[in-house]
Amino acid sequence: MASVELKNVSKSYGSLEVIDTLNLSIADGSFTVFVGPSGCGKSTLLRMVAGLEPISKGDVIIDGRRVNDADPIQRGIAMVFQNYALYPHMTVEQNIGFSLRMAKLDKPAIAQRVAAAAATLQIEPLLKRRPAQLSGGQRQRVAIGRAIVRNPEVFLFDEPLSNLDAELRVSMRVEIAKLHNTLKSTMIYVTHDQTEAMTLADQIVVMRAGKIEQVGTPDGLYEDPQNLFVAGFIGSPRMNFLRASPSNGSVQLEAGPTLAISGAPSTQDMVVGIRPEHFVFGGDGPQLTITADVIENLGGTRYLYGTTKSGEALIVEAREQTGITSGDQVSVGLRTERALFFESSGQRLKLSAAS
Ligand SMILES: Nc1ncnc2c1ncn2[C@@H]1O[C@H](COP(=O)(O)OP(=O)(O)OP(=O)(O)O)[C@@H](O)[C@H]1O
Ligand SMILES: [Mg+2]
Repeated sequence: MASVELKNVSKSYGSLEVIDTLNLSIADGSFTVFVGPSGCGKSTLLRMVAGLEPISKGDVIIDGRRVNDADPIQRGIAMVFQNYALYPHMTVEQNIGFSLRMAKLDKPAIAQRVAAAAATLQIEPLLKRRPAQLSGGQRQRVAIGRAIVRNPEVFLFDEPLSNLDAELRVSMRVEIAKLHNTLKSTMIYVTHDQTEAMTLADQIVVMRAGKIEQVGTPDGLYEDPQNLFVAGFIGSPRMNFLRASPSNGSVQLEAGPTLAISGAPSTQDMVVGIRPEHFVFGGDGPQLTITADVIENLGGTRYLYGTTKSGEALIVEAREQTGITSGDQVSVGLRTERALFFESSGQRLKLSAAS
């Protein structure tokens, strides 16, 4: 196990800066997830930790040791890629043991480590097969097995589940969480799936355009996003954003209601953020009138996709409301204590609804 520290790390390709003076601490034994839109630099950052990508500026420190100039093999890491990168002509057993054979371990030691990895991943019956004879999920397990046998200090995963179908992705996600509980190694995991980030991480790093937008626990980012980008990125379906402006100790939503607030906003154009689950039907709070466009019934719950009077799209969780059909006018109450306030330029405002 090992901690990982990134200090003022930058990466440029020619004049293109893809990682910009980034600082991050990853605790020993923790599970850290990098999330962010395509092209924001997640893979580049992971590859810089791995030693697969030279660092333009700053330091990468693993277990207290500066590793900028160390080869991948000397860093005590193992990386699992999206495309598995298995050797097609080797059996599962040979694939998993490959790095140990390269390291010239003796045969009984290799056999013992391969067997232990196969047991952890429950792939013992597959050891004699070749990759072409495996399902996608089984191949991914083999790729993880190849990482496990090396007893790395740090596991690096780059979108390991994105080639799998939805159901398999969920079950492999649980497997990776169990693996972390068992091995207790430091894990760094890249994804652009916010559900994977929420369910796996101790610490989520939200990135945009080569910079960190916010670092926090899943609950911390969900409850207390610092800006519109993070608020919109974490949570599914995403948070609703409604245009508003301050007026006399309250906030007037273009969509209708006025919210009493404590604190004075220093801006004219504001955005009120409210998650789909933070509405109530009935009740005496501020009400919004919306036209129901689509009702998405998920069985366990349902989401109402509607449009406000101001023409803004709104998603409302309507778990118990079985009677609504598209075209209906519906009145929904805001749980004002859950509303978040932002400058329209993005920064969170230190305001809350007055109770
Ligand atoms: N070898 C390279 N030369 C020039 N630019 C590169 C190179 N590799 C990556 N980039 C650029 O660096 C940026 C970050 O790429 P990176 O692969 O880290 O993104 P990512 O966040 O992993 O995206 P995705 O979610 O699509 O995998 C992108 O704009 C990409 O075009
Ligand atoms: Mg990537």
